[in-house]
Amino acid sequence: MLSVNPGRAVRVGLVGLGNVGSGALSILSGNAGQIEAKLGFPLRVHSVCSRSVAGKELPAGVDAVRRTADWRDVVNDPEVDIVCELIGGTGVAREVIDAAIGAGKSVVTANKELMALHGADIWEKAIAAGINLAMEASVAGGIPIHTVLREGISGDRIQALFGILNGTSNYILTAIERHGSAFETVLAEAQRLGYAEADPSADIDGLDARSKLALLSALAFGERIAPSDIYTEGIRRLTPLDFQYAHQLGYTIRLLCAARQTPEGLLLSVRPALIPRDTILAGVQGAYNAIWVRGEYGADTFYYGRGAGPHPTGVAVVSDLMRVAREIRNGSPERVSPFAHARLGAYRPIPITLQRRAWYLRFRVHDRPGIIAALAGILAGKKVSLDAVLQLPSDTKEDLPFVITLETTCEADLRDAVEQMAALDFLKEPPLALPMETSL
Ligand SMILES: NC(=O)c1ccc[n+]([C@@H]2O[C@H](COP(=O)([O-])OP(=O)(O)OC[C@H]3O[C@@H](n4cnc5c(N)ncnc54)[C@H](OP(=O)(O)O)[C@@H]3O)[C@@H](O)[C@H]2O)c1
Repeated sequence: MLSVNPGRAVRVGLVGLGNVGSGALSILSGNAGQIEAKLGFPLRVHSVCSRSVAGKELPAGVDAVRRTADWRDVVNDPEVDIVCELIGGTGVAREVIDAAIGAGKSVVTANKELMALHGADIWEKAIAAGINLAMEASVAGGIPIHTVLREGISGDRIQALFGILNGTSNYILTAIERHGSAFETVLAEAQRLGYAEADPSADIDGLDARSKLALLSALAFGERIAPSDIYTEGIRRLTPLDFQYAHQLGYTIRLLCAARQTPEGLLLSVRPALIPRDTILAGVQGAYNAIWVRGEYGADTFYYGRGAGPHPTGVAVVSDLMRVAREIRNGSPERVSPFAHARLGAYRPIPITLQRRAWYLRFRVHDRPGIIAALAGILAGKKVSLDAVLQLPSDTKEDLPFVITLETTCEADLRDAVEQMAALDFLKEPPLALPMETSL
């Protein structure tokens, strides 16, 4: 059972001093007075750990803390009450958290990847050990969406949740939209500015957003959701031309994370989608994140802020540390896992191919007579209704772009039609199919 000397501060061991760790440390140091005033007792950094800790410059006020390059020193230190895991990944981070729980210490983590994959097991262990666990920073950095879903609107029954959860891809898409530059050019600029990693795959292929949507869906629906339950598609194929066509239609394009309850089950996806330009989500620009939650009783609520960065994410970590410190002081570990339920049936994920949406199909063709007739024939064969054909002026007949929009169609039929179209010899590349979110 937890026991903390009531006369002293609650003490933190920080493991990981990168972007988030250094941000959290600077807030713990710079805002120590207000943190103590709000808590009624001090929250102290007792030790810090990173592989290169010897060379790290620490903020004034925490330079006297114990430094170590071995995380076991933090976890096994009887003076440490809370272990804050800010390493990332699913290897050493898991060992740190398991060992901390084993040693009866509370844990704060920002690790979306680990919690999306193994959160249910980790929570079970934490509950059995009677320690506190908090993970606010694991989704949408500075937006306190965990607290919103677990506390603020937990009385509602969530019907749908939409999010822009990856700042890097949103920065890239909004830069393509604003400047008309090619995807590769904008990605290179994002890498130069430090918005995108040298290996950008986790961001631009939707994998980072998928981990976050898995966590948010678990919180929103009380369901066990694995990342593999979520249909995922990245943004590599988008061009400035897609934004021009989308604008003509009154839409823009974002990497949209969506979780919707239907009578059959949950539809989960991370994919580029057309969203109406006059919705609040379309206004989310640059590296910002946003989450839009639709409840049965409370209707729509919207949350917006910085999804990453040392200080926004650091605030989420420090606020978690404060909550856990209060719980330690009051002897009340949080005993309900956000992943508590077995599959509930109504919230069971179902294949995305069952969904019905309107569609945007963009083609690039060698121009010749009969193209529209050939495409319309395939659509008619699948009983899919064509809504409109759009063609912006083009200089060349060798690489002619145009767009067809489709009325509401089941994704399974749409995919069959696109597969048949991809074999047509006048296409320069397979058609790009994006859902149109007409109901946002
Ligand atoms: N970056 C963000 O804005 C953001 C936002 C939300 C959530 N997160 C999550 O926060 C976590 C940390 O991300 P980050 O961006 O801060 O990562 P980062 O900049 O790469 O920092 C990782 C830190 O962990 C340390 N570390 C790695 N392996 C270690 C080991 N075996 N033993 C001790 N220390 C080790 C590194 O030490 P050395 O530097 O000494 O090698 C470094 O200080 C991740 O789970 C990430 O998903 C990040």
